[in-house]
Amino acid sequence: AIAAPPRADLAGLRVAVSTGGTREPIDPVRFLGNRSSGRQGTELALAAADRGADVTLVAAHVDEGVLASASRHTRITMVRVGTAAELETAMTDAAAGADVVAMVAAVADYRAAEVSREKLRKEDGVPRLDLVTTPDVLAGLVAARRPGQIVVGFAAETAADDAELLARGRRKRERKGVDLLAVNRVDETHGFEATDNRVLLLDAAGTVVSDAAGTKREVADAIWDAVAAVR
Ligand code: CTP
Ligand code: CA
Repeated sequence: AIAAPPRADLAGLRVAVSTGGTREPIDPVRFLGNRSSGRQGTELALAAADRGADVTLVAAHVDEGVLASASRHTRITMVRVGTAAELETAMTDAAAGADVVAMVAAVADYRAAEVSREKLRKEDGVPRLDLVTTPDVLAGLVAARRPGQIVVGFAAETAADDAELLARGRRKRERKGVDLLAVNRVDETHGFEATDNRVLLLDAAGTVVSDAAGTKREVADAIWDAVAAVR
């Protein structure tokens, strides 16, 4: 059998994608982090590159195994970051030349106000952590959006049912000012670490333009279809 020719419907499109989860240091051995595996953002980058786009993938603490295909791809440039501040710098740079920007990374919302240079030790008693907020990278990208640039956000939400998920998603879409918001339900069996995913895609009017379920690659292709439709 002859394989179908690859789709090249995104040829020439310049794309910046963030993935993974930032880690904010507390002391030399500890950090504040989250459970993001970086799989969905990596699949989003791979799907775009396979469809002809030129991609910058900014990865925060993603296993090299997860990144393997992306780091070999000729149309993907990899940038590795650790903290929210580093991710902000890398995505701001990448967005300056991008037609589409997608913030899939789980950015830590808080960091320690002061990072201890010494390891915190039990003999010094229970530490009190003063937290401050990290920069909202997506808000900065939306504020600096170039004419015609499309900004895609992600939202991982816990919700009792689809109605609550949709209501939360619509509020977040409004608050973030993005062109598309991919709303992801997270619980014990969905979202983080799983191979399959389900996202509701909301456009700028809050309309559900896609309810995509399947492998993270299938969800990624549905997102690019929606991007192509709003352009
Ligand atoms: N995001 C970001 N910078 C942050 C926090 C979040 O760029 N400091 C981005 C994420 O990459 C995602 C979107 O904002 O694309 C929504 O993230 P989410 O955590 O769902 O929203 P928050 O605004 O942080 O609100 P909350 O965690 O309270 O739900
Ligand atoms: Ca958050």
